[in-house]
Amino acid sequence: MPDAIEKTHLRFSQLECSSDEQLHYLFHELSELAAQEAEAPPTPETAQKFRVRWLGRQDSVISRITANWLKEAPPEAKKWVGQQLNWLRPILEDLASQSKKIAEAAALEAAAARDQIDLSLPGVTRPLGTQHLVRQTYEEMYRIFTSIGFSVVEGPEIETAYYNFEALNIPEHHPARDNMDTFYIANAPGYLLRTHTSPMQARTMEKQQPPVRIVVPGKVYRRDNPDATHSFVFHQLEGLAVDTDITFCDFKGTIEYFAKEFFGPQTRVRLRPSYFPFTEPSAEFDASCHVCDGKGCRTCKHSGWIEMFGAGMVNPAVYGFVNYDPKRYSGFAFGLGVDRLAMLKYGIDDLQQFFRNDVRFLSQFP
Ligand code: PHE
Repeated sequence: MPDAIEKTHLRFSQLECSSDEQLHYLFHELSELAAQEAEAPPTPETAQKFRVRWLGRQDSVISRITANWLKEAPPEAKKWVGQQLNWLRPILEDLASQSKKIAEAAALEAAAARDQIDLSLPGVTRPLGTQHLVRQTYEEMYRIFTSIGFSVVEGPEIETAYYNFEALNIPEHHPARDNMDTFYIANAPGYLLRTHTSPMQARTMEKQQPPVRIVVPGKVYRRDNPDATHSFVFHQLEGLAVDTDITFCDFKGTIEYFAKEFFGPQTRVRLRPSYFPFTEPSAEFDASCHVCDGKGCRTCKHSGWIEMFGAGMVNPAVYGFVNYDPKRYSGFAFGLGVDRLAMLKYGIDDLQQFFRNDVRFLSQFP
């Protein structure tokens, strides 16, 4: 027995339907089949298919009933078919639009479930970097010097020979230029990579009258081959204090204060005579070894002392380059090797570690 849907392919005469009641059963069966079909949980696609199959313009159940039954029915039966058709159509419309609604709601719900964020899950954490040990050492030095009235200023890494040498009392053929052999910039004659932070002495004094109390951080360059204690780039902190009444005692007191703050309160300092063209007298400052407290160990090469940095009273000749009256003003300057002091303080035996960016090294100084 063909079911009611298959029968819509037949012409009215082939239905062998002789009464209103038989037709009524046929339409009823159709409505039940449609309801059954609409029962399965719809997706937007099946809802659309349902509409096409039952109500579509071409080759749907409704379009076939119209063409095969209504149009073909003898005049007396047309009325029955028409009435039944008008009864079935809104039922199918209802089923179709309900399926569509259910499908859309289900799709929304599924999307919401998919997008749900579980705030209790652990997040994706990226390891946070730390400040490089050189940076940390700078910060420590700023803390010490700003606490006694120094301010931090920066200068250019590309310098002129004038500021790097001449204004520091190092004339062109002076032998002191040899140990500061540097990188000259080929297509910019007269420019070089600064060999020390001292050029900021003249640059600062040119611009301002005393009192001057500055520290100058920055990279400096020398034509050195890299090894455990040398590098063609390293870090300095320049210091300069100039005023009407600055004495050698202020100089020594300041350095001693720095050494005690940096290496610890038990630290003692000593001075050895030295030479720099821009300081007179010049000195090398040593600190008592912070590892053995002066008893002698590997860090201090069994001398009890470690060499910290060069310094001195500003050579009056320098004042001539910046129009300071050498009779009125006096001052002192120093040039700390930041990498060197960090190596001493933290027991690092290879300067190159600072430039390798090896996380295994860096992460030891969080
Ligand atoms: N500029 C010197 C150097 O780099 C250090 C220094 C600075 C010495 C200031 C004395 C005064 O070697």
